[in-house]
Amino acid sequence: MKTAIRGATLTFVADPFLHDAEQAMRYCQDGMVVMEDGLIVAHDQADRLLPTLGPDTVVTHYPDALILPGFVDTHVHYAQIEMVAAFGEQLIDWLHRYTYTTEQRFSDPAYASAVAELFLDEQLRNGVTSASVFCTVYPQSVDALFEAAARRNMRILAGKVCMDRNAPPELLDTPTRAYDQSQALIERWHGRGRAEYVITPRFAPTSTPAQLEALGALAAAYPQVAIQSHLSENRDEVAWIRELFPDCASYTDVYHRYGLLRPRAIYGHGIHLTEDEYALLAESGSALAHCPTSNFFLGSGCFNVRLAKRADRPVRVGLASDLGAGTSFSMLRTMGAAYQAAQLSGYPLTAPQAWYLATRGGAEALGLAHRIGSLEVGMEADLVVLNQHPTPFVAYRMSHARDLQEALFILMTLGDDRAVSATWVAGRPVWQAGV
Ligand code: GUN
Ligand code: ZN
Repeated sequence: MKTAIRGATLTFVADPFLHDAEQAMRYCQDGMVVMEDGLIVAHDQADRLLPTLGPDTVVTHYPDALILPGFVDTHVHYAQIEMVAAFGEQLIDWLHRYTYTTEQRFSDPAYASAVAELFLDEQLRNGVTSASVFCTVYPQSVDALFEAAARRNMRILAGKVCMDRNAPPELLDTPTRAYDQSQALIERWHGRGRAEYVITPRFAPTSTPAQLEALGALAAAYPQVAIQSHLSENRDEVAWIRELFPDCASYTDVYHRYGLLRPRAIYGHGIHLTEDEYALLAESGSALAHCPTSNFFLGSGCFNVRLAKRADRPVRVGLASDLGAGTSFSMLRTMGAAYQAAQLSGYPLTAPQAWYLATRGGAEALGLAHRIGSLEVGMEADLVVLNQHPTPFVAYRMSHARDLQEALFILMTLGDDRAVSATWVAGRPVWQAGV
């Protein structure tokens, strides 16, 4: 049976970093998205689609809202949500002081399951319908997340973190165990319902060359499976890489050497990259996850998205919360922070560019643009419905917006979870404000 939602709709048909914004966006002031069996079967102006609907089609009308594809969070650690806002450290000390102790709790499946439920509910409350998630070293923490995602029918990518050095012994695996446990999880979860596995070395400093080699071999054995890790987030981390991998030309070259760069390989941060590294990422089809609230919180620096996406060698980029170093589940807040990171790098990130990064850009970075990230026929019906007047002040400011781009910019600068009216997953409403 068909269902439909009606309201202003916005989707991207092209990349506004590479094309004119007006050509990249498709906006219908009174639009409609028709869904059937979890997929989008029509998207157009409501007056064109209404006559095509049968009498039994239920239409949910959001007269004052903006309907978009659900937000895509391209890099997030679900096991770290209990330690968001951990005070005082930069990356390496923060990992040792807070992260590694917290992640040890996820050997307990019941604990992992409770946090996974909370995490996904909070994502839905923020309009995030898909994410690429780091679990912990324990396979049971991956099972917990995929089981919770299956209960919500969400398209979630996730992987067991692999590390075999430079972390507490409780959190270490070995090259063989990393390979075997990851492979078992691929066989158990990849392609089951909407689940997708991601091969997940934490980052090069916590994997021996032997482990990176094993994971490169696993990636070669499963060429369709995504890969995720961290890259060039913090200056001390980059210096440490030079000591740990003296034969590699750069941090990016480490992943390149071990066969971990390719389409569907996505690396968090990429703040301190050289031109050769951007070129390596672009040539290999790898992607970067831009994590601005995390980069500000840990004092890591400002990712330069305009440079990353330079037209002669564009690197795919998605937006990410990177909780628990990141400070918000809200992709609106994250877009606002991305604007500030751009300002500090000396250029303005436009509203269409920011909204693209949070939707279609993220889907492209994860190699999923054929399934999610836009309101096109055949796409999975994951939607976020935004209230453009979530508070009296935002309503007042919005009353002075002169056009769509200004309205989008106001919403990404002033908006947060209060601006999410509803979230739909696979054609069904799964969260509604005030219900
Ligand atoms: N680098 C390696 N592990 C992590 C992590 O958990 N968070 C962040 N922000 N950076 C990392
Ligand atoms: Zn991270």
